[in-house]
Amino acid sequence: MSATIIDGKAFAARVRGAVAAQVARLKAEHGLTPGLAVVLVGADPASEVYVRSKGKSTVEAGMNSWEHRLPAETSEAELLALIDRLNADPAVHGILVQLPLPKHLNSDLVINAIDPAKDVDGFHISNVGLLGTGQKAMVPCTPLGCLMMLRDHLGSLAGLEAVVVGRSNIVGKPMAQLLLGDSCTVTIAHSRTKDLGAVCRRADILKDGKQKLVGDVDFASCARVAGAITPVPGGVGPMTIACLLANTLTAACRKNNLQEPEGLTA
Ligand code: GUN
Repeated sequence: MSATIIDGKAFAARVRGAVAAQVARLKAEHGLTPGLAVVLVGADPASEVYVRSKGKSTVEAGMNSWEHRLPAETSEAELLALIDRLNADPAVHGILVQLPLPKHLNSDLVINAIDPAKDVDGFHISNVGLLGTGQKAMVPCTPLGCLMMLRDHLGSLAGLEAVVVGRSNIVGKPMAQLLLGDSCTVTIAHSRTKDLGAVCRRADILKDGKQKLVGDVDFASCARVAGAITPVPGGVGPMTIACLLANTLTAACRKNNLQEPEGLTA
């Protein structure tokens, strides 16, 4: 079989368009402009690129965007004080603290200081628990993007065998929870899994959560046996920012007791 290529870039453009349309409607009908604050501590070059790209996409979707750039030597108390201010600011609907943080800062502590309703990364322990118990949560952007593309491509996922390779808190575990929520039979494989090949071959859905820019799987060999595949670059990556925008819109709607846009949440 030769695989259908799932065009993540085109799909992300559609999602960004849908978000922008909903933002325009919120402004016109409710005088509400969703806003996202991104916090970057230090000057990691890759993080700088991500943060700039997130800010640009946020503005393009018609939302307010704030970038808070703090020096690498910022203390935990200073960072927590900024998060407190953002938590209390009614114009800020989403807060993202870019990871990784400098080593002297405790990421878990910092992330869990964010108001869970503004946690557009879905990394706060409350959101992890809500997702794991099938309740309304903020959902991590990369797995949410994968779920949207799978639903678009396959329709119902019920009963399918899904294998997630990788058990990270950011991708693997939430991806497994989302697939379980859509009634897949889910296996999480990882570095200690015995006979990874055999586990992967029984999958109807295979998600490699290791997220390297070179691509998650050997594209050429997988494309020969898969029904459909996302390329790298242009697969899941563009969906991550699109879902960040979707999550910011969702957070603004929930905060104001307005109906959530369809198709942009889990
Ligand atoms: N660093 C790399 N990916 C991410 C992400 O999705 N969210 C945050 N906050 N930091 C990241």
